[in-house]
Amino acid sequence: MKSIQRQDPELFKAMDKEKQRQEVHLELIASENFVSDAVLEAQGSMLTNKYAEGYPGKRYYGGCEHVDIVENLARDRAKKLFNVKYANVQAHSGSTANMGAYRSIVKPGDKILGMSLDHGGHLTHGHPLNFSGVDYAFHSYGVDKESERIDYDEVEALALKINPQLIVAGASAYAREIDFKRFRAIADKVGAKLMVDMAHIAGLVAAGLHNNPCEVADVVTSTTHKTLRGPRGGIILTNDPDIYKTINRVVFPGIQGGPLMHVIAAKAVAFEEALHTEFRAYQERVIKNAKALAGELKRLGFHVVSGGTDNHLILVEVKTLTGLTGKQTEELLEKANITCNKNTVPNDPEKPFITSGIRLGTPALTTRGFTEEDMIDVGKLMYDTLMNPDNDAVLDNVRERVKALSDKHPLYRNKA
Ligand SMILES: Cc1ncc(COP(=O)(O)O)c(C=O)c1O
Repeated sequence: MKSIQRQDPELFKAMDKEKQRQEVHLELIASENFVSDAVLEAQGSMLTNKYAEGYPGKRYYGGCEHVDIVENLARDRAKKLFNVKYANVQAHSGSTANMGAYRSIVKPGDKILGMSLDHGGHLTHGHPLNFSGVDYAFHSYGVDKESERIDYDEVEALALKINPQLIVAGASAYAREIDFKRFRAIADKVGAKLMVDMAHIAGLVAAGLHNNPCEVADVVTSTTHKTLRGPRGGIILTNDPDIYKTINRVVFPGIQGGPLMHVIAAKAVAFEEALHTEFRAYQERVIKNAKALAGELKRLGFHVVSGGTDNHLILVEVKTLTGLTGKQTEELLEKANITCNKNTVPNDPEKPFITSGIRLGTPALTTRGFTEEDMIDVGKLMYDTLMNPDNDAVLDNVRERVKALSDKHPLYRNKA
């Protein structure tokens, strides 16, 4: 960042502070990660200068011969990674990818059955203020009251009642493996299409640690920046040649203009990284770390939603044990240099901005090298902080222990 420092000290200061924050805080936001130097390099490259409306071999601008290679590499690697026939890698974000997918397989006003937002679904799965809730007639399924897991029989009963044109599987805050084959069977029973939004679990799918939705869904969307550990962005995958043609038309010129070639290059880097065995080992550690943290939090008396986790995230109901809302918990942990986000839990009596819970994830800390033992320490640090909300001495002590953990696993230290 030397040029920024010289040219724009005000901006540099904020960026440098953010770098320090990432270094000294324990990052537990389930949707975040730390990309490799190669991903950063690609995203910060001169490819940002290039306009390339269209697709490889069919562009609306000259000079695209090199960026064509870049986009083809990203597409081919995505196809190999997820064992799928077609990939559009131009979606600027997960939300845009979902818009592209919906527009390719349903019409405005069509009925869609997706996961309820307060049970773990995403904004783009039908929030009334989101384009999805505005353009389509969304209905939702939730999790079972007792098991706090998706009740597939209930999904089937709802599908039979509603008769949706599309069923959406996938979530932002669901800690259990999703049975995509069962979703396919339900969709087939009611003549609906199946779309899977694997944004959160894409890295686990790539590593073969979660069943692959590309085997059964009509369309699969994902972000590239969560467990997949790439740049911020989206992808849309399908095995159907006709749907693929439509997706390409819908993304450009339907939704977007020029693709972000620097981001597509960074996606290509991340996909290549994910093809290596080391990536699988990393994802195995992500899951082990999540299980270790969930186990420790349970042992300390927290209510872990669904009793644990199969993936990279943990949903914790905090209010019963601590008396604190999710919002207060997030704020208090932030003071202790532990970053997470408040999150509704199933049947949460609090409003979405307050909540009774938090969502935690292990992808970022695992990238830093945190072990299961470290995650158990993180659980204890959270407990000490939340059980002593007004005790400055405890907070100081927690901050020191947080520092010791982050010093043990440096991130950007010693890098320009
Ligand atoms: C399941 C799911 N889908 C889509 C998105 C949207 O991604 P983006 O923030 O890139 O628009 C998210 C982001 O959190 C998500 O969790």
